[in-house]
Amino acid sequence: MLEAGVIGAGIYGIHHIKTYLLNKNIDKVVFCDLNKEIRDKIEENYGIKGYKTVSEMIKNEKLNIVSVTTPDPYHFEPAMQVIEKGIDILIEKPLSTDINECRKLLEKAKEKNVRISVDFHKRWDPAYLAIKEEIENEKAKKIIRGYISLDDIIDVPLKWFNWAHKSSPVWFLGIHCYDLIRFITKSEVSEVYAVGSKELLNSKGISTYDSMQAVLTMTDGSNWTVENSWILPNGFPKANDGQLIILTENRYFKNESYRGINYYTETTQKIPNYLFMNYENGKVSGFGLEPINDFVDDIISGKKFKADGTDGLRASEIAHAVHLSVEKGCKIKMNDIY
Ligand SMILES: NC(=O)c1ccc[n+]([C@@H]2O[C@H](COP(=O)([O-])OP(=O)(O)OC[C@H]3O[C@@H](n4cnc5c(N)ncnc54)[C@H](O)[C@@H]3O)[C@@H](O)[C@H]2O)c1
Repeated sequence: MLEAGVIGAGIYGIHHIKTYLLNKNIDKVVFCDLNKEIRDKIEENYGIKGYKTVSEMIKNEKLNIVSVTTPDPYHFEPAMQVIEKGIDILIEKPLSTDINECRKLLEKAKEKNVRISVDFHKRWDPAYLAIKEEIENEKAKKIIRGYISLDDIIDVPLKWFNWAHKSSPVWFLGIHCYDLIRFITKSEVSEVYAVGSKELLNSKGISTYDSMQAVLTMTDGSNWTVENSWILPNGFPKANDGQLIILTENRYFKNESYRGINYYTETTQKIPNYLFMNYENGKVSGFGLEPINDFVDDIISGKKFKADGTDGLRASEIAHAVHLSVEKGCKIKMNDIY
């Protein structure tokens, strides 16, 4: 049996806590969060011990695994402390918003013989897996081009959390797309060109990009357009929207975030993503939660992670190059970054 810790019990960290609590291979779950209100609420609701700091938690517990679910710009320090202690770790995407920090995490993990997994849950989405399988069975021949969009409603950077100015649509959303492209094409990005705009959120006091668009050229010869924003109007019937379109020499794939269910109230329409997270009858399912359970299984079995620290580094390098391209207004060769 394993003992698990979660660092950062906010909007997403709570799903790591709930998944660990329902995992039959885990007999103890603890967490830490700097915010006392959150600590008190979770201790009361779930009957588990909450610490204020990472140091307190790892000093007082004998943890086998830890999830890092702190805000995008604050993964490094907590992750480093956990790795230093020799504990295997699941880090929310992005591995870090600083590629040098990503490299330091990987180096330290190697030194301490620690395994890092990164939560890129799109690799578990059954729609993308079906497309990937069709491409891999070789009937779908060579990929010519792809298009991915992933956007959030404006309430996400404005109201859901207070660190949007230290992230961007690329660090928060694009990172998933870049990882998915690597996963589907099994190739690396060779060149990036990107543009972005920084107006609406800036005018509301949050200094970050509204929208960023990138063209990625892959080493398999395919070209991909990736569009990410977090300013969709709040009236959109879902907190996020996304599309994936792939053209191969003989196939055309299209996937949208509408997954077959619409529902309506007197004032709203919703398109629930019922494939994402389910806790029905005390059982966890859905591609948003499976990466957490697979992390536990892979730790126990010693199997290779579906998304590991190197995947985290590669996606962060692409996000870094996209930012550089937007800022410099020119193409970026990935060989200058890797
Ligand atoms: N895999 C996904 O699709 C997905 C979806 C949403 C969010 N996320 C990622 O999860 C991470 C967390 O996002 P969120 O929306 O839950 O943020 P959040 O702001 O709701 O929660 C972060 C929590 O971490 C706590 N915290 C910050 N620094 C800490 C530290 N050093 N020690 C202990 N606690 C600390 C904060 O008090 C807060 O409660 C982000 O990196 C985000 O990108 C991933």
